[in-house]
Parts: sequence; structure tokens; C-alpha cells
Amino acid sequence: MLTVNENYLKLPGSYLFSEIAKRVSAFKAENPDKSVIPLSIGDTTRPLSPTVIAAMHKAVDEMGQLGSYRGYGPEQGYAFLRETIRDKAYKPLGVDIAVDEIFISDGAKSDCGNIGDIFGKDNVVAICDPVYPVYVDTNAMAGRAGDYDGTRWTDLLYLPCNEANGFMPELPVRTPDIIYLCFPNNPTGASATKPQLKLWVDYALKNGAVILFDAAYEAYISEDNIPHSIYEIEGARECAIEFRSFSKTAGFTGTRCAYTVVPMDLKFGGVQINKLWNRRQCTKFNGVPYVIQRAAEAVYTEQGMRETREIIDYYMNNARVIRSGLKNAGLTVYGGINSPYIWVKTPDGADSWGFFDRLLKEAGVAVTPGAGFGPEGEGFIRLTGFGDAEQTKQAVERVIKVIK
Ligand code: MLT
Repeated sequence: MLTVNENYLKLPGSYLFSEIAKRVSAFKAENPDKSVIPLSIGDTTRPLSPTVIAAMHKAVDEMGQLGSYRGYGPEQGYAFLRETIRDKAYKPLGVDIAVDEIFISDGAKSDCGNIGDIFGKDNVVAICDPVYPVYVDTNAMAGRAGDYDGTRWTDLLYLPCNEANGFMPELPVRTPDIIYLCFPNNPTGASATKPQLKLWVDYALKNGAVILFDAAYEAYISEDNIPHSIYEIEGARECAIEFRSFSKTAGFTGTRCAYTVVPMDLKFGGVQINKLWNRRQCTKFNGVPYVIQRAAEAVYTEQGMRETREIIDYYMNNARVIRSGLKNAGLTVYGGINSPYIWVKTPDGADSWGFFDRLLKEAGVAVTPGAGFGPEGEGFIRLTGFGDAEQTKQAVERVIKVIK
């Protein structure tokens, strides 16, 4: 008889953002006259930029013509996009990445989850706490997390990120094999300086570990001393894989395009990791649509970059509105400077889900409960700057009214 992957049965409840969506839908169904402002999932709301749209239209027309029609594309992505990323995303940082180290994909979420395919089941995995739940859940699905004890997974190595350490993980005593880092951080909004990242790169090199570096929010960095890529750190090519995305950078959450960098210098036990990822992608992935890759390429044109900057500024202005509004109202807030996320301490020690429910019911504002990102997230909520500007202002006013 068929057996299922029992690791799935160990997963608690549903995926965090599905659970929130369920609660918000139930509330709306019971209260059809009440409006709910969504500041929960980090989903973009501004339309794609005119330059991106023009590139998509052109590519659609090409697909309708004999001679320019394209079937299957390269699984790793078209050369035009990989070369553009090399030249426009990395060269300006002083980072040399070769085209065959760049893999175009349909999302950083998918890549962060799928990358586990190429690593052995017995590796010890370290994750920050709180953390983007995809790292945890996908390792649980792969059997690397052990059992869920109601709060934590027995085999995961938790790196607490809290007010005491400035939301910066400390080097663990027990040595992990796989280390997930995300900076600027989702959910806390914390960012890491070069010396802070250097500590991790040196640690990974010394211990033969791989760093899986999620840089999905690098476009939101506003301070000069914050690196945009882990490859700005010496030695990172030998220990790190970097995930980047057009989702938050250019509003591609619905359009789907991202990329992962796997340097040729990354080798464990004599095995070149780039080869394994290439093998995995060729077998299980058929590439991102041509039209979408042309749209992504357009993000890097001069006009595309200007328009993209305007969209990012719009979201970061929302982040400022949330940050300053809640701070002035007496709440303790973090993030929102190099990140579109604002990490807010709940008032009077309220628990995350309780405060989430209260804000939903009394303020008509949907946030993300910090506890959904891990035990250290308890006592916090996360708000996103990705909403509509007017609604964001209203949401802040509504929250302040409830807590006053
Ligand atoms: C989030 O809200 O944490 C993210 O938007 C979810 C995602 O990118 O998958």
C-alpha cells in the first residue's frame, strides 16, 4: 500500500500566511460591513512599472510571430537576463559573478525550499528565530527538523534574535552544516553590516558549513554601510549561496521571477555544488517564461531602474509612516529603515496571536503575529510597508486608537 511522506504529518497547522488569510476571511464573512486593511503578508500592491510592461508587451508580440516564437527556454534562464544580472546587479557592488553561477527561477521562496534537495538528510540546520517559515517547514518536510514539540523542532538549531542581541544571531556552540541567514531580515527588519556578515562567513569556512543567504529585500537598504550581497564579504564564494528576487524589488510577486547564485568555488567533499543545483534544476524545472524574463531584464534599464526606485521609495515611505506613527504612540518598534518590515512589540505583554485578533476585530487591520515566525517572535507583530499609502496611514491611526 502507498505510504506518504510522514514528515508532512509532523507539520503543525497550516502555513503561516494561509492561516492568517483563513482568519481574515472568516472575520470578513462574519462582518461584511467592516473593512480590513491588509498589512500582513509582504505582497506588493503597486502596478508593474511602464518600462517593464512595455518589455512584456514586446515579448508577447514576439511569441505570436513565426521566427521570434520560443518554446522551452534554458532551465537556467536566458543568457540575456543572466548577463544583465551579472553586469547590473553584481558588478556595481564590485562583485564578480559568472553567468553560469546565476540560475533564474520562479521565486526565492521556491529556491529556498528546493535547495534542500541537493543536501544530505543528516545535515544539522541552523535557523534564526524568528524566521521566514519556509526555511523551517521545508526542512521539516525533508526530515531534517526532527519532531515538533509544540514550540520548537527537536533537530533544528535555533539562533535567537531578540532585543538583547539587536536581532543579530550569535555564533552557535554546536556546529551546524547548513545556516540560513536573511538580511535585511524578514521578519525583524534588522540589517547586517559587513563585519557582522564576515563573522558568519569566517565561521562557515572554518566549520565546513554552507550559508544560504536570502537577500530578497536588498533593494530596500538605505544605509551606505550595509552590504547588498554576501559576496561583498571575502571568502563568501567558498561558503555561500545567495537568493534574490524581483518580487519585492520590482513588484513581481504575481509575475514570478527570481535568481539564485551558486558560485563555482562552492565545494564540499570535492563536490561542486553548482553542478548539483544545475542537475536538479534541469530535471525538475523548465525555466521562467520568456515574457517574464524580458520583463525582468527591463528592470535594469536606466528608465526601469528609475521607475523601480520610485516604487521602492513609495513602500519605504509607508514603512516610515508605520514606524514613526507607532513609535510616537508609545510602542517599541524596530526595522523599517533598511527593510519594508516593521517589527513591533505588543503593548502590555500581550501575546502575538491575541494582539493579532484584537487588531483584526477592533481596528480592522491585519498584521502578522510574531509568534508565527518562531518562539522568539512571541510578544511581537510584523507590519508591512507594501500596502497602499492612504490605507497604511488609516491603519496606523486605527491601531493607535485601539491601543490608546
Ligand atoms: C512575507 O510576508 O513574509 C513574505 O512576503 C512571504 C513570501 O515572500 O513568501
